[in-house]
Amino acid sequence: MLIKDKTIKREIILEIISSIKQKKELNSISDEFVQNQLYEYLIKNTKAVPYLTKPKSKEYKLIVKEIRSILRRVYGLFRSGEETKKRKELVDSLNSVSSQKTIITQILETHSSTKERLTIYDKLYTKIFTITKKPKTIIDLGSGINPFSVPLMKLKELKYYAYDISQEEMDSLNTFFTFLHTKNSQFKGKAEMLDLLHFSTLPKADICFLFKMTDVLDKGKGHTTTEEIVKRIPSKFVVISFATRTMSGKKMTAPRRKWMEWMCTRLQYKYTIIEFPNEIFYVIEK
Ligand SMILES: C[S@@+](CC[C@H](N)C(=O)[O-])C[C@H]1O[C@@H](n2cnc3c(N)ncnc32)[C@H](O)[C@@H]1O
Repeated sequence: MLIKDKTIKREIILEIISSIKQKKELNSISDEFVQNQLYEYLIKNTKAVPYLTKPKSKEYKLIVKEIRSILRRVYGLFRSGEETKKRKELVDSLNSVSSQKTIITQILETHSSTKERLTIYDKLYTKIFTITKKPKTIIDLGSGINPFSVPLMKLKELKYYAYDISQEEMDSLNTFFTFLHTKNSQFKGKAEMLDLLHFSTLPKADICFLFKMTDVLDKGKGHTTTEEIVKRIPSKFVVISFATRTMSGKKMTAPRRKWMEWMCTRLQYKYTIIEFPNEIFYVIEK
């Protein structure tokens, strides 16, 4: 890697990534994502670069501390160790229990966004597919555990690609997808780690989900990142969702996102809004 004309050896980068991840709550994040955060940090803090080779220095320890703090902000915010553990146990039990529907509900209940959607998933997917027609391929970007709702889509033939930055979650999703495939060979799913801020290619799909992702992508700096990603997504339909309640649970007075509507008009994309009490979905046709 080259920062300010200084080449940093691969081993040095791998060593610091490993130090950063030596915290239980961070050890499942993809190396690629940690590396990208580290590069961004070093580009902004070039004075830190020479200390990468001095693991005992206080400056090195500071780099590790600061990257961990960035990771906790973007990653830790969405997960707790307890929930992840419970989810893994539930996924592992799928093959041995009779009531798989109950288990899937319990899995979806382990995260607030999917728990909230339990009462709307049926209607949501029916409404989306009425607009898009039944898809054969879906990609879910920054999927979290949303792909556990695949059975609620009631689609016979489907290829599903899920992407996020947690190895543990992608492993659980792959176990789940294998389970679904044994029940219905026309379903195929794949979960992979991908940093959406640095991706090169994605598989072609009929629909792409970007549920509750724009804040994560734009990081409070306008909406160009979301716009670039939407433009690059190789699918005709992109479904983008937003919470319609504030962090404290209050209903937003203006739940619609005007910037989203302006963006679609400017790019000549059609959009349809599907609104529920806690979440608003824009079904965009490119
Ligand atoms: C608010 S959650 C939304 C999860 C899911 N889309 C849903 O609505 O149920 C944000 C998700 O984005 C993921 N994430 C954050 N930054 C990411 C990045 N750069 N690339 C891919 N995923 C990312 C997080 O790990 C987390 O699972």
